[in-house]
Amino acid sequence: MSSRCMVAKVRLVVLAVGTLLLLTSTASAQHRDTFPGNDSLDQQLEAVLLGAGFTGRIESTLEARLGRRLDQKLADVGRLLWFDTITGLNNDNTCAGCHSPTHGFGDTQSIAIGIQNNGIVGPNRTGPRNMRRAPMVINNAFFPRLMLNSRFVALSGNPFDNSAGFSFPSPEAMSLSSQPHLLTAQAFIPPTERTEVAGFDFVGDNDAIRAEVMERLNGIEEYRKLFGKTFPEVQDGGSITYDMFARAIAEFEFSLTFADAPIDRFGRGQRNALTDDEKRGALLFFGTARCSACHAVAGQSNEMFSDFQDHVIGVPQIAPQVTNNAFDGPGANEDFGKEQVTGDPADRYKFRTSPLRNVAIQPAFMHNGAFTNLEDAMRHHLNVFSSAQSYTPASQNLAADLSGPTGSIEPVLACIDPLLTTPITLTDAEFNQLVAFVRNGLLDRRARPENLARLVPRSLPSGRPVLIFEFSQP
Ligand code: HEC
Ligand code: HEC
Repeated sequence: MSSRCMVAKVRLVVLAVGTLLLLTSTASAQHRDTFPGNDSLDQQLEAVLLGAGFTGRIESTLEARLGRRLDQKLADVGRLLWFDTITGLNNDNTCAGCHSPTHGFGDTQSIAIGIQNNGIVGPNRTGPRNMRRAPMVINNAFFPRLMLNSRFVALSGNPFDNSAGFSFPSPEAMSLSSQPHLLTAQAFIPPTERTEVAGFDFVGDNDAIRAEVMERLNGIEEYRKLFGKTFPEVQDGGSITYDMFARAIAEFEFSLTFADAPIDRFGRGQRNALTDDEKRGALLFFGTARCSACHAVAGQSNEMFSDFQDHVIGVPQIAPQVTNNAFDGPGANEDFGKEQVTGDPADRYKFRTSPLRNVAIQPAFMHNGAFTNLEDAMRHHLNVFSSAQSYTPASQNLAADLSGPTGSIEPVLACIDPLLTTPITLTDAEFNQLVAFVRNGLLDRRARPENLARLVPRSLPSGRPVLIFEFSQP
């Protein structure tokens, strides 16, 4: 008998014993108690959450960790900038073109479309593709490492603490370390990205691009007035500086903290916040299905359901037919992930564990949106080899320009994270419970499109038109 078969058998026995225990305790609970709760299930989950370091109180720590109240006026300036193509030197894109309110301020696409787009944000967006999917910015205030290959890092392990510096790839390197929060530092980057918003016409380095964007903002009386409300120096005739711009963007992002999901309310003692199926799914997530080994909640995870480490999980390699980015590998159809940051081949194909809060509102999953339904993205983890080998872009209804041949999967599967090399067996019922937990248990209703729609400005200080957002009917 191969050792792999033995592993599988042992697990089956463990599963059977576990189920038996669960059944016995459920039965005795039913004797003790009448309606409607399931004490034993609640107690098991409470114990598991306690052991995992989950409190359900992370959202309430925001202002204490900032050391001040949120500045709603400044957040509102950030919101206007978020939607205004004045910040994109190519004049056709802005944060919201990729981080869209229709999807939790994340992408509407499997792989982002930046400059030379058709002005639509939603399924009908067209244009040359960049390299990766734009993640949701909701709850980013709590992420100690940003970007899908973790290339922007708070070296203290705490995004609110710049004492050890904020590390970025060159040319910025450590130069943004005096910014108060990792997100304030991050806001120095997007306007300089030529394929995202800046375009190729403007001549100059990143600082020159930033200066040009500020030149534009300072030319608009309405923005000067708005910044003047927070910064007296602007009111007194001084310039809006890039630091102020970055603070406004970050303030808007802080205001997008939606971390009060059913699991949080359960964690705070509200037992009916989750259905029994969601509770069983949570027990699987933290137990047999081993999800929390990477989608962690303790310590530096800040209850975001990510260890903020990078792993190879065997995601199929999608490559766009038309791209303005440089893909990796001999066929220019691969993404080397973390290796791009460290230069270490051992980091090839590693990507940051996705934080899972509000994941249900994403239209696509993984760094390249290879999966377009949540069940398949989750099922992939149960047997990464069979999932990756049977994968076709057509099975996920990917956009036509992403349906070409995928990059080679063998080299990716050769270095799968040890945590995922042994397939995990769940019954259909268990899998559905796991899905119920991830889909509903982690969703804060404030992140839903119908609630974010009100953040789309009617008009912009620049007088430019607002992009067209395709909100589907809830
Ligand atoms: C062309 C599309 C595009 C535009 C425009 C854009 N972004 Fe992004 N954004 C992305 C992509 C793609 C990533 C992930 C890239 C990667 O990991 O390599 C990202 C990542 C981020 C992250 C990190 C999220 C995380 O989970 O770590 C933040 C924060 C962010 N963007 C903020 C902004 C802001 C602020 C603006 C506007 C000033 C902006 N972005 C404009 C595509 C875009
Ligand atoms: C070995 C670490 C690891 C384990 C164990 C793991 N994941 Fe993941 N998961 C990841 C990484 C890394 C990604 C992002 C991969 C990428 O972007 O290409 C991810 C992505 C996801 C996504 C897509 C989210 C998004 O925003 O695109 C979902 C959903 C998910 N995991 C759920 C689960 C579930 C459910 C389990 C347990 C059955 C699990 N994961 C176990 C590391 C892990």
